[in-house]
Amino acid sequence: MIRVGVVGYGTMGQVHSQAFQELNDVELVVVADPDPDRRAQAQRDFGVDVVSNIEELLRSSSVDLVDICVPTYLHETVLAQAIVGNKHIFIEKPLARNLEEGQRILELAKDYDKKIGVGHVVRFTPAYTGIRESVLQGEIGQAAVARTFRGGSQFPQGWHDWYADFDLSGGVILDLIIHDIDYLRWLFGDVERVYAKTTHGRTTAHLEWAMIVLRFKNGVIAHVEGSWTNFAGDFYTTVEIAGKDGLIKYDSRETDPIVKTTLAEARAGGGVTVPENPAARSPYLLELEDMIGAIREDRAPLVTVEDALGTLKVALAAEKSARLGQVITL
Ligand SMILES: NC(=O)c1ccc[n+]([C@@H]2O[C@H](COP(=O)([O-])OP(=O)(O)OC[C@H]3O[C@@H](n4cnc5c(N)ncnc54)[C@H](O)[C@@H]3O)[C@@H](O)[C@H]2O)c1
Repeated sequence: MIRVGVVGYGTMGQVHSQAFQELNDVELVVVADPDPDRRAQAQRDFGVDVVSNIEELLRSSSVDLVDICVPTYLHETVLAQAIVGNKHIFIEKPLARNLEEGQRILELAKDYDKKIGVGHVVRFTPAYTGIRESVLQGEIGQAAVARTFRGGSQFPQGWHDWYADFDLSGGVILDLIIHDIDYLRWLFGDVERVYAKTTHGRTTAHLEWAMIVLRFKNGVIAHVEGSWTNFAGDFYTTVEIAGKDGLIKYDSRETDPIVKTTLAEARAGGGVTVPENPAARSPYLLELEDMIGAIREDRAPLVTVEDALGTLKVALAAEKSARLGQVITL
């Protein structure tokens, strides 16, 4: 049995807590949150022990895995405490708010004899993993261009509105489209150059948009757009990848969201659509299942600290590019 303590019972703490219920031989035993309403809610939801902070959690319970779901600017502090407690750790993305914190986390993770996994959940999202497989198997030939979108009309609601404070959250680039940056790195490898535009600093809080152009070392160019300012409508994501021999696209708003069209088929008469409806298992469940597997099988989780730091560096380069109006070479 793997015993779990969740730190931070906000949006993600609740999603993770639910996912742990669905994993075999895994038990959520304690939730830590300074907010008494959140603690009461955790007790109601799962009948678990509740405490105010990670120090109490480490003192009062014996857990194997600490799952960190606190706001981004608190990641390093809470992770450092979990390391002192010598626990396996799962931490939400982004790894940290800035490079210094990320590098200190990497130092702490070096030679640590427990597992640390990071919640870059798009790597567990069936549509995205399916597209990656198709591209890697050469279904569209050599990839050349990628385009992603992620966003919605609703600005994220967080504890004391921390998302609206750029110094705490890093805004739409560091918080939201870091998902796509991580996915594209996983698919295409290292990024060479970054250029970005954002509305940050030009509009009021609770409205934010960004567009990033990434040039990968393998020559692929990607355009990554994210928005917390969208026109009316639900949150949605899209990805399109064009290669020498075809195109794959995904739109989460469609009933059959993945469409593959090869040039050969299109030339032969109108194009062929291969609709696929990705499996319904939650990617949050899948990422935590991978983390539990890493502990049981004594292997690395799919997203390591080093990997997440690589993604953070690209996101921070995009933030810097937008601030300076310059291309940033990594
Ligand atoms: N993977 C994803 O899809 C995804 C989605 C949303 C958020 N996130 C990330 O998850 C993290 C949490 O975001 P959220 O939306 O759940 O935030 P939230 O504001 O909804 O919840 C944060 C919770 O942490 C608690 N908290 C604050 N300080 C604490 C401390 N010192 N110890 C314990 N608990 C503390 C707050 O009381 C609150 O309940 C962020 O890093 C965010 O970027 C990831």
